[in-house]
Amino acid sequence: MEKLGEACLFQVKPIGLIRSSWREVRGTPVQPVFADGARGQVEIEPAYAEALTDIEGFERIWLLYWFDRVGPFRPLVVPYLDRSAHGVLATRAPARPAPIGLSAVRLIERRGCTLEVADVDVLDGTPLLDVKPYVPRFDAWPGRAGWLDGAPCEQTTDDGRFTPTRPTPPDQGMSDDAPLVHASIVSQLAGRVSLIRSAKASIRGATIPVAEVTH
Ligand SMILES: C[S@@+](CC[C@H](N)C(=O)[O-])C[C@H]1O[C@@H](n2cnc3c(N)ncnc32)[C@H](O)[C@@H]1O
Repeated sequence: MEKLGEACLFQVKPIGLIRSSWREVRGTPVQPVFADGARGQVEIEPAYAEALTDIEGFERIWLLYWFDRVGPFRPLVVPYLDRSAHGVLATRAPARPAPIGLSAVRLIERRGCTLEVADVDVLDGTPLLDVKPYVPRFDAWPGRAGWLDGAPCEQTTDDGRFTPTRPTPPDQGMSDDAPLVHASIVSQLAGRVSLIRSAKASIRGATIPVAEVTH
C-alpha cells in the first residue's frame, strides 16, 4: 500500500466549530440518542454560507468532526456499552487511528451561519470537518449490529477512559487562520512524545512535568 505512506498525509481545514454545554468528557453523553435533547450550536465559517442553502429542510444532520481532546489510538477498546474489548474500528469509541467523530443531531433552526442543534454528544469547541443531511432513506438500514445487539448498554455518558487527564482547552473562537487539523495531529504526536520522554525520565528518578501539550 505505497499510497498510504508518509506522502499521503492530508491537511483538512475545519469548516467551523461545534458549541455545546459539554466542557469535559466526563458526563458527556456517548451518543446523540442518550443526549436527552442537549442543545448546541454549529458555527460555520462565513465563507461557506452559500453551501448551507436548503439545509433547513432536514430534521437531522450528520456532523463530522475531529476528536481534538482524545488520548492515543488504541487498537482494542472496551466501549461504553459493553464490558468486553473490541477492535476500535468495530466501535464508536474516539481513540481511533484517524479520530473522526460523527453524530446525527437534530436541526432546530438556521440563523445565518449558525445551526441550532439538539441531541449533541460533542465537546464545546470541537473542530467541525463537514455537515451532511441525514436521510433516512440513505442512512437508516435495519439489520445486525454486531456486539451491540447483545451489549449490556450500561454507560451512556463518558467516564473519561479515552482522554488523558488534563484540562479542557479554553474557549477558542474561530478566526480566518483557524488551526489546521494537521496542526492538531502534530500536537497530539508531540504530546505522545513528551509523555514517553516524561515516563522514561521518571523511571530514571527525575521529575519532569508530564504533558506540556496544548491543542
Ligand atoms: C463514544 S464517542 C461517539 C461520538 C460520535 N457520536 C461517534 O459515533 O463518532 C462520544 C464521546 O466522545 C467524547 N468527545 C466528544 N467530543 C470530543 C472531542 N472533541 N475530543 C475528545 N473526545 C470527545 C465525549 O465525551 C462523548 O461522550
